[in-house]
Amino acid sequence: MSLRAGQIKSSENVGKQVTIRGWVYRLRKQKENAFVLIRDDRGDVIQCVFPVEKAASLTIESSIEATGIVSQDARAPEGGYEIKGKDLKIYNVAGADYPIGEYQSDELLLDKRHLALRTRKMVAMAKVRASVLDFGRRWFVENGWMEVTAPTIVKGAVEGGSTLFKLKYFDEEAYLSQSAQLYLEAMIFSLGPVWSLTPSFRAEKSRTVRHLAEFSHLEAEAPWVTLEDILKVEEQLVSYVIQNTVRERAEELAYLKRDTVDLKKVEPPFERVPYDKVIKVLKSKGFMVTQEDGSKREIQFGDDLSIDSERELTKNATKPMFVVGYPIAVKPFYVKEDSDNQGIGLAADMLAPQGFGEISSGGLREDDIVSMTTRIRKEGLDPAAYDWYLDLRKYGSVPHGGFGLGIERLVRWITNAEDIKDTVLFPRTMSRVTP
Ligand code: 4AD
Ligand code: MG
Repeated sequence: MSLRAGQIKSSENVGKQVTIRGWVYRLRKQKENAFVLIRDDRGDVIQCVFPVEKAASLTIESSIEATGIVSQDARAPEGGYEIKGKDLKIYNVAGADYPIGEYQSDELLLDKRHLALRTRKMVAMAKVRASVLDFGRRWFVENGWMEVTAPTIVKGAVEGGSTLFKLKYFDEEAYLSQSAQLYLEAMIFSLGPVWSLTPSFRAEKSRTVRHLAEFSHLEAEAPWVTLEDILKVEEQLVSYVIQNTVRERAEELAYLKRDTVDLKKVEPPFERVPYDKVIKVLKSKGFMVTQEDGSKREIQFGDDLSIDSERELTKNATKPMFVVGYPIAVKPFYVKEDSDNQGIGLAADMLAPQGFGEISSGGLREDDIVSMTTRIRKEGLDPAAYDWYLDLRKYGSVPHGGFGLGIERLVRWITNAEDIKDTVLFPRTMSRVTP
């Protein structure tokens, strides 16, 4: 029976014979001995020492099965245990030109992402990401929300026409979905609170450290809720995911050099900051926005928040905050207007601290058919494409709301990753669709 590195590294195994299967992670050949660091299929490593003749044909990333006796040696890397190798079976001698070594440009690592997945950084990222998805799902299941799946090939824009990927769908035109929201809205009438995890697509023409062309979108929608109900769900969900991920992935986060002191303090409630106050704060800091002609002016009421303004706003924060009460003019057609506050939307974005900025958007949905049709037209969209969606306002419309959370944005914050591309195994951006 073959064991994994983690199972072998235990004092009970000292003196015993074990077998491990894996890949040559590092290789150092000396006069008499070859020191082979073996990576198992969970990304853990252990050193195995062979007589140098036995390991003569080994190269980095060769796949092997090694059998030997476990010994404890404080000098052994990766936990002080090593295997004194006896038998070596080689499955595949890897080409000697394995392109990934200790130091590489970010570009090369992206070009060779199918191989870079074997680096410890990517393994750590993948594990953190898996925990985020796992605990996200658990929160919804434990709190009685039903998981659903919405189509990703659609006819209508949710988040504006400018970021749609067009698609030839048999003899007609269709798009890749930007958000499952409209479909989730259709489901709440018979399924109650629902949630989904689907890929969302945005033809983002800008290269930033927080935009992908394809991202994992965790979305939720519920009938009969207030804005405050939705914000409570968001802050509980995010806190639950963070607390559990930080606990379960302590080792990986340490490897990624993520200081988790602040993360451990993330718990409800998150501060609700009104949009108009945000603008005042940014103004007082002399924050400028760039206009279309390239000139700069002071930020003013009515401006949407940008990566830069969100960074400024959150750089010294240690917990997420909600920005509430955006002008409806900067928000999509479906955002419900506050009846006590004309022009203001019942919508909120959650901004992650330390400059990370927006990780979710949510709020109440317009439930009146006339206002909604007007808003669709105003956005330059065709109401005919929203025929079925408008039916939801015609047949038993109810106050309802929900939100969408970007998994990669959340993982980026949790891991303190420089670039969102680090948080997904095969990133899709404007300039990258392979591997
Ligand atoms: O703010 P957005 O565009 O809101 C919606 O799509 C709503 N329809 C969601 C809903 O209410 N059901 O997207 C939601 C979140 C953002 O806050 C961000 O975290 C993430 O999705 N997101 C992206 N993540 C990576 N790359 C992109 N290009 C993203 N666009 C949005
Ligand atoms: Mg948003």
